[in-house]
Amino acid sequence: MTDNGTTAMAGHKDFGRFVILSLTFGCCSILFYVYTQQDIIHKFAKNYLVTIIHSSNERHFTGINNYTISVKPLKLQNISTKSINNYVTMNFKGRLGNEIFEYASLYGIARHNQMIPVVDDKFHLRRIFKISLTSVKPLTNIKRFHEAKACAFDEKAFDLDKKYNWTLSVYLQSWKYFNDYSEDLRKEFRFKETIQAQAVQKFNDIVKARNVTDKYKLTYIAVHVRRGDMLNSRPNVNLGYTIANVSYVNNAMSWFQEKYPSAFFIFASDEIAWCKANFNKPNTAFITQRNSPEVDMAILSQCNHSIITTGTYGWWSAWLSGGQTIYYKNFPRNGSGLARLFDSKTYFPPNWIAM
Ligand SMILES: *[C@@H]1O[C@H](CO)[C@@H](O)[C@H](O)[C@H]1NC(C)=O
Ligand SMILES: *[C@@H]1O[C@H](CO)[C@@H](O)[C@H](O)[C@H]1NC(C)=O
Ligand SMILES: *[C@@H]1O[C@H](CO)[C@@H](O)[C@H](O)[C@H]1NC(C)=O
Ligand SMILES: *[C@@H]1O[C@H](CO)[C@@H](O)[C@H](O)[C@H]1NC(C)=O
Ligand SMILES: *[C@@H]1O[C@H](CO)[C@@H](O)[C@H](O)[C@H]1NC(C)=O
Ligand SMILES: *[C@@H]1O[C@H](CO)[C@@H](O)[C@H](O)[C@H]1NC(C)=O
Ligand SMILES: *[C@@H]1O[C@H](CO)[C@@H](O)[C@H](O)[C@H]1NC(C)=O
Repeated sequence: MTDNGTTAMAGHKDFGRFVILSLTFGCCSILFYVYTQQDIIHKFAKNYLVTIIHSSNERHFTGINNYTISVKPLKLQNISTKSINNYVTMNFKGRLGNEIFEYASLYGIARHNQMIPVVDDKFHLRRIFKISLTSVKPLTNIKRFHEAKACAFDEKAFDLDKKYNWTLSVYLQSWKYFNDYSEDLRKEFRFKETIQAQAVQKFNDIVKARNVTDKYKLTYIAVHVRRGDMLNSRPNVNLGYTIANVSYVNNAMSWFQEKYPSAFFIFASDEIAWCKANFNKPNTAFITQRNSPEVDMAILSQCNHSIITTGTYGWWSAWLSGGQTIYYKNFPRNGSGLARLFDSKTYFPPNWIAM
């Protein structure tokens, strides 16, 4: 009896344990289920780029791994639909490289502030690139934005007061001003047909003159060597401009040669004789014709990768080429006036290689 009673008691206890365990387990499962659902959605939103693949009452989002989730349409705030009434323009200065920097930064800064970038009808770059920015009737209520440093990112440019139209003041030399709009800018900076056609012709002539047997197998490296005014102009030298020497160019060429045994180097320079005297090899060629700066830039930008020395002209040739870039790190001269206006982290794109 006692045994039975004990058994019965034990059975009863076991049943109780079973209920408690089941309830606990059930609740945990539910909690776990809810948690994981939220977690998945949370992770999804956090870790995957989402693109709208079609929109109806429900929107479907697909991540890069083809996970699909549906979400009910958000109740949209009544976002002001009145058209944008803020324009931004630029007080352009300098030559080709400077102007491209200014245009790119104008574009990026205006877009970032949700304002409209505009440039004059007579703007010089219209003759070179298929740029899309239009002009407007003279702006009223203009304020001028002055950057803190010429060759460094100034985040204040991304916080322009919507009470005004804006004129940006030079030189705005930082990839950060326009990095989010790189794709747009690659369209803005397509060379005009006549320039592009000349560049393709000259590129082919240059390669042909070197008796290259299979030009399609080569990896083309543009080498831009700026000397001229950075060597001979006292004010420039005093300000802190430097020039790269033979060992820098040789080191950079070796780096590419090791990576691409079929490397073929195309030089452009304001002192091409210096380049010829120092780098005349079977796999080098020199742009000797007295082309316009834009045709030379178009030739360089057709190359697969770039080596640059100093100055914005080389910077932009490399950016347009879009491949790997090696730049000269001893610029500007340490302790110089220019060095005080310069921040290499925001001047050179982070994926470019310092040498
Ligand atoms: C996603 O789906 C598309 C179309 O079914 C397919 O072409 C693509 O390869 C898929 N991508 C991945 C990462 O599985
Ligand atoms: C949103 O704006 C429109 C046009 O200005 C207006 O007709 C509508 O009533 C607004 N809706 C809400 C919910 O405020
Ligand atoms: C900017 O200038 C245009 C053209 O004069 C003018 O219509 C507009 O109101 C101005 N915007 C601001 C914010 O003052
Ligand atoms: C290329 O070949 C031509 C004709 O064979 C020759 O005259 C010329 O010197 C060669 N050029 C080079 C750079 O080898
Ligand atoms: C070239 O310049 C670098 C610094 O940029 C210097 O370290 C090196 O000694 C120079 N080489 C020659 C041959 O002058
Ligand atoms: C390298 O540049 C040449 C000349 O512009 C081009 O024809 C070729 O497609 C490029 N190669 C690669 C891998 O991008
Ligand atoms: C410039 O000077 C600083 C310290 O004065 C030094 O750390 C840095 O390496 C120098 N940069 C160059 C490019 O010589």
